[in-house]
Formats: sequence, structure tokens, C-alpha cells
Amino acid sequence: MAYNDLRMDNQWLPFTPNRSFAKDPRIFVAADGMHFTTHDGRQVIDGISSLWCVGAGHNRKPINEAIKKQLDTLDYSTAFSVSNDKAFRAAEMIAAMAPGDLNKVLFCNSGSEAADTSMKVALAYHRARGEGHRNVFIGRERGYHGVGFGGMSVGGIPANRKVYGSSLLPRVDHLRFIHDPVKHAYVHNTEPVWDEDLLLELENRILPLHDPSNVAAVIVEPVAGSAGWYVPPQGYLKRLREICDKHGILLIFDEVITGFGRLGTAFASDYYGVQPDMLNFAKAVTNGVFPLGGVVCTDRIYEAMMGAHGNAPEHAIEFFHGYTYSGHPVACAAAIATLDLFREEKLFERAGEMGPVLGDAMHAALMGLPNVIGIRSLGLAAAVELAPVAGLPGKRAFDVFMDCYHRGVLVRNAGDNLVLAPPFIVEKSQIETMVGTLADAIKRAA
Ligand SMILES: Cc1ncc(COP(=O)(O)O)c(C=O)c1O
Repeated sequence: MAYNDLRMDNQWLPFTPNRSFAKDPRIFVAADGMHFTTHDGRQVIDGISSLWCVGAGHNRKPINEAIKKQLDTLDYSTAFSVSNDKAFRAAEMIAAMAPGDLNKVLFCNSGSEAADTSMKVALAYHRARGEGHRNVFIGRERGYHGVGFGGMSVGGIPANRKVYGSSLLPRVDHLRFIHDPVKHAYVHNTEPVWDEDLLLELENRILPLHDPSNVAAVIVEPVAGSAGWYVPPQGYLKRLREICDKHGILLIFDEVITGFGRLGTAFASDYYGVQPDMLNFAKAVTNGVFPLGGVVCTDRIYEAMMGAHGNAPEHAIEFFHGYTYSGHPVACAAAIATLDLFREEKLFERAGEMGPVLGDAMHAALMGLPNVIGIRSLGLAAAVELAPVAGLPGKRAFDVFMDCYHRGVLVRNAGDNLVLAPPFIVEKSQIETMVGTLADAIKRAA
């Protein structure tokens, strides 16, 4: 199909330079395994798991079949005051995978909704315990928690925030970013060891400024994904947990990217041995094929919310929050089939094995190339950072992204980073192709 067979006047594309897209459209019409087919009949390898979603690869029959069967059985039912069998089963499976007493799953439809849901739970939980004054949130510079006003407020990517001014939540602060471009520009399959304690700032400046007793929650991505795969220093998340515990502050891990296998473990929480109070997920939970997100909360949070209504009549709702499509039966059927597939094919283990293959290939092929100023790898994801073109931030990485696309590799450009995070089924030879194509494109963009 030629793209000009399509009318392209009506779709406003998300997070996309629409004007340049119109001149050089990139349209997928089919996908299978590691590859897309484009509108002009070319094959493009999915180097980014379609935005960190498609861990099991495209067009997986068990997931497709489960969706079709669900459509023929129970297509949809409202989620309020009734529910469906698949939602309970999916919640049970997710709770069983989640660490510790993270046992209560609130479903939503996306990572953005998960961020806002977790923030609302934090406020409601503190209020239920008689600490309604805890309403300060702490995010991190260059964090990404989606595009709702809550997630945007705790998020720290300047371009996503800059035009929303005073519409952002007022009582929010941000931790320093977790990157040192001088001492730790290159991170090779492991966490960097810093000689400086990054979290002193939280203890010595941010918490005293707001008073710790006013802080509801700290929300971070265990590894900063959307910013361009930035890895925290060794011990950072453990120490963050300790500081939150000391002050009665909830810790939320946004595992929308790191959840379901990216680091070779079910969650980054397992990888780092640190349990949050809430864990946000989306994306890979359904292999990307159907929108589903959620927040897994501890029993303690759930019990506090139920207990707060001790004197309320039983018909009273305990948490005024939810979405028309919370726990959608088709999404949950997709999640059940996806999680079964991950287990049967040992795909998290495979991600753990292929991670160092990707990391080694990136460091070997890209170090020393023109404009390369950093390479970071951990789990099955890696990023290369390029020196920006003067006065045109993001331009060099965008040019490399376009070049790779035209040579059959979908990479992700994030600022002046290029990220590879392929499906867990990726083969070594495919990693070599992706990294080789990226290296050639970087040379051409010099
Ligand atoms: C860590 C994190 N949180 C939230 C989101 C937002 O998810 P969605 O685009 O599904 O709303 C993303 C999306 O990339 C993400 O990476």
C-alpha cells in the first residue's frame, strides 16, 4: 500500500513532530515476531519493543487467541459495583508476582492513569490515618510519569512541563537527577558507584524545607526510562526506602517500563531488593496488545483505607476513584495470557541473558564514535548519548533515528539519546544488526 492511498489529514500524532512526519510518513501495517511491515512493504526490526511494551514479540498466538475467546465470552461489563472473572484472575497473578505484601491491584488503562491513581491513593491513605496534611509529593528531575496533571507535576522532563505553568500541582518538589556526565558517562551492565551521596539533598534540603511530616510520597522510576535509560547509583533505592521509612513517607516505584522483565526480573523492585509501598505498571503487562495499567498497593494501605470507614455503612464506597474500563475483561484476558507466556517461555530469564549481550555490543561498537558522550546499559536496554547540535537540542538524535528507520531499525530518540530495548525474544544476530545500523547512522550524522 502506498502511503498516499491513506488520507492523513485527521490524525494529530502524539509526541511526534507532525510537520516532518507528513513529509516522510512512517506507517506500519503488520507485525510479527521482531519485525514490522511498513506501508511500502519493507521490514523494520522493533528495537524498542514498541515503546517498552512488546516483551514477548509481536503477533503472539496465545495472547491473540485469549483475546478472541474473551470477546466471544464476555466482551465488556461495567467495573463499578460489579466485576468480571478475568480481572480477579489477572490481579491474583500480578499480586503473586509482585514483591512482599504488594497484594492489592487497582486497575486502570495506562501508565499516566497509574501515576495519578497512585498519587490519589497516597493522599487518601494519609487522610484515612488522620494525616491529611501530608500533601507534598517529591518526584525527580527528568522523571516521566505520563501526561496527566499529577504525573506531569511530579515528572521532571522540562519540555513536558513548560507550557502548563500554574496548572501543575503546587506542592511538589524534585530530587536531583541521577546522572553524572563527567564521572559516570559510561555505565556498563551495572550500577555506577558514586563517591557522593545523592540523597543527602533529600534529607538536608528538601525534607526540612517542606517538613517531612507534610510529605505524602516520593515517586521515582527505578531506572529513568523515558529520559534515556539513566541508571541510579549503587545503593540509591535502598537508601531512598530508608529515608521514606524514617519519615512515614510512602515510596512509589513507577515500573511502567521496568515492570515485567526488562531487568531480567519480574520487577526492578526484585532486581534492587527494595519494596515500594505502591508499584505502578502498564505496557508489558499485556505485551502491549491491549491497554491496561494499574497500581499494586500494600495490604497496609488497603487496610487503612477500609479501616477508615469503620463507622460507615457497608454500602459506602471507600475510595472514590476508578475508570469505566478499570479491569476490562479483554485487557485482563490479554494480561493473563501474556503473564502465562512470559513464564512458559522463561522470557524474563531470557531478557536477563540477552541484556549483557546488548550492553557489550553497544559499548564495543559505539564508544569513541563521533559525538558519542555516553553509553549506559542495564538489563535488556541501552542508550547512547550524543553531543547536541549547537542550538538544536535533539536534532542529532532525531536524524539518527530517521536514518535507522530508513535502514530497517526502529530505535527510540529521547533528547540526544538513542535507546535500544528490544523484545526479550531478540537473537544475538539481531542485536548485532541493530547496533551496527545505529553505529553507521551515528557516523553519518557527524
Ligand atoms: C515510567 C513511566 N510512567 C508512565 C508512563 C505513561 O504511560 P502511558 O503512556 O501508558 O500513559 C510511561 C510511558 O512511557 C513511563 O515510561
